[in-house]
Amino acid sequence: MPWIDSDYRKRRLAPNNKNRSSSMNALRRLSVAVCLSSFCLSPLAHAGEVEVLHWWTSPGEARAAETLKKLVQAKGHTWKDFAVAGGGGEAAMTVLKTRAVSGNPPAAAQIKGPDIQEWGQLGLLADLNQVAAEGKWDQLLPPQVAQVMKYQGDYVAVPVNVHRVNWLYINPDVFKKAGATPPTTLDEFFAAADKLKAAGFVALAHGSQPWQDGTLFENLVLSKMGPEGYRKAFVEQDKATLTGPQMVEVFTALKKLRGYIDADAAGREWNVATSMVINGKAGMQIMGDWAKSEFTAASKVAGKDYQCLPFPGTQKDFDYNIDSLVMFKLSNAENRKAQEDLARAVLDPAFQKDFNLAKGSIPVRLDADMAPFDACAQQSMKDFKAASAAGTLVPSMAHSMAASSYVQGAIFDVVTNFFNDASADPQKAAQQLYAAIEAAAQ
Ligand code: BGC
Repeated sequence: MPWIDSDYRKRRLAPNNKNRSSSMNALRRLSVAVCLSSFCLSPLAHAGEVEVLHWWTSPGEARAAETLKKLVQAKGHTWKDFAVAGGGGEAAMTVLKTRAVSGNPPAAAQIKGPDIQEWGQLGLLADLNQVAAEGKWDQLLPPQVAQVMKYQGDYVAVPVNVHRVNWLYINPDVFKKAGATPPTTLDEFFAAADKLKAAGFVALAHGSQPWQDGTLFENLVLSKMGPEGYRKAFVEQDKATLTGPQMVEVFTALKKLRGYIDADAAGREWNVATSMVINGKAGMQIMGDWAKSEFTAASKVAGKDYQCLPFPGTQKDFDYNIDSLVMFKLSNAENRKAQEDLARAVLDPAFQKDFNLAKGSIPVRLDADMAPFDACAQQSMKDFKAASAAGTLVPSMAHSMAASSYVQGAIFDVVTNFFNDASADPQKAAQQLYAAIEAAAQ
């Protein structure tokens, strides 16, 4: 009954509440008269509004966000888009804090990892236990994922997807022209970068935000120190690991890497960097697989027009970043129902497929059929399961999965200052890293 839907939406936009409620009543009576099946009745009986804060604003990400919006609207609810541009979500989190402090948080917000606990402590989150019990989330989700979605044992968030952060994207045409070979080790990576640079290409497409520098940094940590060293550094924040010789090597490699980025990187968003690989200006990009959303939006095919390789030296590891929507307490019963419908819909197999095909990630449901997905996503799912069994899954620091936002901010400061200062000393940087983390963690 599409005509009921669109009429209904127009009325919901009416500014006058009295008109609105009388038109809603009329509509309900109409729905009872017209619809005899429960399918017709349920969308109207549950109609509410969900305001969703996210930062999926690049062309590829926006296509993925659209699938969520359509799903909410198909259930008869109104989608209120609260998109805050800026990769990595720093700007979005600032805006969210302002809204929450003024007592007016949205229904749902893209909040991830340990930050969920910080928000839980403020007492602002709604519990989704009933929806989770109905949907058997405890059985459906990997236990490590389910645990992150709970605050004090209650579900307060729903996971959307699993992104892998340790990817290297390459343009095979550019590699061919430069006579470069796809790298599997860090030495090979630098050898390929030299060839690309010598042939006049930008070897490494990169932007300039701290989270992008942090993404390079964590890939180097994983490559040089392995999953155990990575966890010791970012999760346990162990002094000996943070200041040790391997961390000094990581900063030395980061400095070297800086030499392969073009002079115009300042202020560049990650998706603009991806477009440099897409259009053949650059040979490589180190980025999580949301970058794939841009290749897909540009109709580029994985394995043909571009290649995804696990970041050199991390082939057996999986650096994960799970997007999740956290739900805030709402006083309006209809909006609460809409919020629950949103949570329910996110784990629906059809949504998991459509959203993740557009987003570049893999479904968070491990029972998902991967046949419709591209070669990169299929490898990602295989590697996720293998890393999970082998204990080589690590949480992304730069994408808020490993540490609190305070510790993350401290790491970003040290890494970005180091990255932008050609004379910075790797030994000193490692010492500063520990000092900054220690101060932030108190
Ligand atoms: C989010 C992704 C997003 C990316 C770039 C990450 O932190 O988890 O969903 O696509 O930032 O904005």
